[in-house]
Amino acid sequence: MAPYHIRKYQESDRKWVVGLLSRGMAEHTPATFRRLLKLPGTLILLLGGPLALLLASGSWLLALMFSLSLLPALWFLAKKPWTEYVDKTLRTDMSDITKSYLSERGSCFWVAESEEKVVGTVGALPVDDPTLREKRLQLFHLSVDSEHRGQGIAKALVRTVLQFARDQGYSEVVLNTSNIQLSAMALYQSMGFKKTGQSLCCVWDRLVALHTVHFIYRLPSAQAGSL
Ligand SMILES: CC(C)(COP(=O)(O)OP(=O)(O)OC[C@H]1O[C@@H](n2cnc3c(N)ncnc32)[C@H](O)[C@@H]1OP(=O)(O)O)[C@@H](O)C(=O)NCCC(=O)NCCS
Ligand SMILES: *[C@@H]1O[C@H](CO)[C@@H](O)[C@H](O)[C@H]1NC(C)=O
Repeated sequence: MAPYHIRKYQESDRKWVVGLLSRGMAEHTPATFRRLLKLPGTLILLLGGPLALLLASGSWLLALMFSLSLLPALWFLAKKPWTEYVDKTLRTDMSDITKSYLSERGSCFWVAESEEKVVGTVGALPVDDPTLREKRLQLFHLSVDSEHRGQGIAKALVRTVLQFARDQGYSEVVLNTSNIQLSAMALYQSMGFKKTGQSLCCVWDRLVALHTVHFIYRLPSAQAGSL
């Protein structure tokens, strides 16, 4: 197990960071596909479609071809929410990481480095909502290289964000993940994050029943700490 250390993002890390983020999201396609196969609507389509074709045309070949062509279509559907997410983030906050995350005091982006390679990432931005009574920080883009998992790197990155939040006077840290990302959910829960709810967001997410899950970590307030 090679040692690692956490430091602030630098421009020269960009290609590593984008790679980690893209791979970290793409790896959820198989689990999304398996989930999609189990949805009632998919089962109806997979069984009923060929059956209807068989009854209508009398052709086994046609029925078989229909079933076989459905699978790549479902794979495409399973992949879509993840590629859409990555494309969107590369167009928005991640198009210029320094500008989005490192130009103000209340936000930051870190990487975990091991043997001169970037093996983990995490970012944090303030939640801009004037109706909020508490100062709230949102955690983004936690990802650890698959060959460096299980060493506590993600935990250390999340702790870095929590410490930053404390230092900057935030009261809460929030984040969004999904019901497919079981390791991430286990990680956040083990660190004291509480699930606050879930929602169905965009078209692609709806099609594959991918729920966004919301988590919050309440920092003990400075006042309570000094009592
Ligand atoms: C989620 C992820 C960041 C975890 O990285 P990691 O460095 O392996 O995590 P850690 O070693 O710090 O694990 C910390 C804790 O998380 C939990 N955990 C992590 N991976 C887990 C897994 N596969 N199954 C169950 N629990 C897991 C455990 O509670 C673990 O504590 P323990 O080792 O004391 O049991 C990593 O799997 C990843 O990059 N996934 C792809 C990208 C992604 O989904 N990111 C989340 C964005 S919201
Ligand atoms: C995370 O979820 C919250 C609550 O629904 C939402 O307001 C916010 O926009 C989401 N953030 C991202 C980056 O999707």
